[in-house]
Amino acid sequence: MNWITQTFGSSVGKKLLMAVTGLGFIGFLTAHLAGNLSIYAGKDAFNSYALHLHALGPLLTVFELGLLALAVIHVFTGLLLFYQNWQSRPKRYQVYKSSGGRTIGSATMPYTGFLILLFVIFHLSNFSFVDKTSTTIFDIVAGSFQNPVYVAVYVAAMIVVALHVSHGFWSLFQTLGANHPKYMPIITGAGLVVSVVFGVGFGFIPLYITFMV
Ligand code: HEM
Repeated sequence: MNWITQTFGSSVGKKLLMAVTGLGFIGFLTAHLAGNLSIYAGKDAFNSYALHLHALGPLLTVFELGLLALAVIHVFTGLLLFYQNWQSRPKRYQVYKSSGGRTIGSATMPYTGFLILLFVIFHLSNFSFVDKTSTTIFDIVAGSFQNPVYVAVYVAAMIVVALHVSHGFWSLFQTLGANHPKYMPIITGAGLVVSVVFGVGFGFIPLYITFMV
């Protein structure tokens, strides 16, 4: 138990937890986006993708519990870092000193993180925790995006996700030790590409359903 208090008690430990769990989310979002792209192949392709996913049975449950654990650790550690940063406000740059400079992404991390948490709760209540016995997942998703409010919420949330990832990607590699000047431009560039791919890749789906299906 001592290692738990030590990890949560030190700034480096907390940053490491944020980095490892953040990397897990980037992996999840990559897989989720790849699966969601099947929607462009039509109703049957998307429903068949969801069916295959659910056919994993207990394996899917283990994966979901892992994802939940990542979320709890990421949110809790993020809150601790936010509190620590707020408490030491006059010296805050000593705690959060970032050699990558201050960008909109880095300055808004706690707020975009909180908005993503709200979005995920909203998202799961729309698409996951619903009765799917007399309908299909495609009809649930397509039905939701008939409502312009949903479309606006989703597009706005995807901009927030892109902003969060734009800094998170760079930051996690820095924490994991890839902060050599030679690699930094590559990591900054890759972070930008990943955030644009997530933002446009997810954000275009509601617009596609609204205007083209
Ligand atoms: C337009 C964008 C998105 C669409 C259309 C979409 C669609 C879906 C659908 C249909 C499901 C339920 C799958 C099923 O139970 O069969 C789902 C689950 C989920 N989505 Fe999304 N999603 C989008 C973006 C996102 C984003 C940006 C995040 C995270 C920030 C996210 C996080 C999740 C999570 C955590 C689950 C539950 C996974 C599980 O239970 O295995 N989604 N999504």
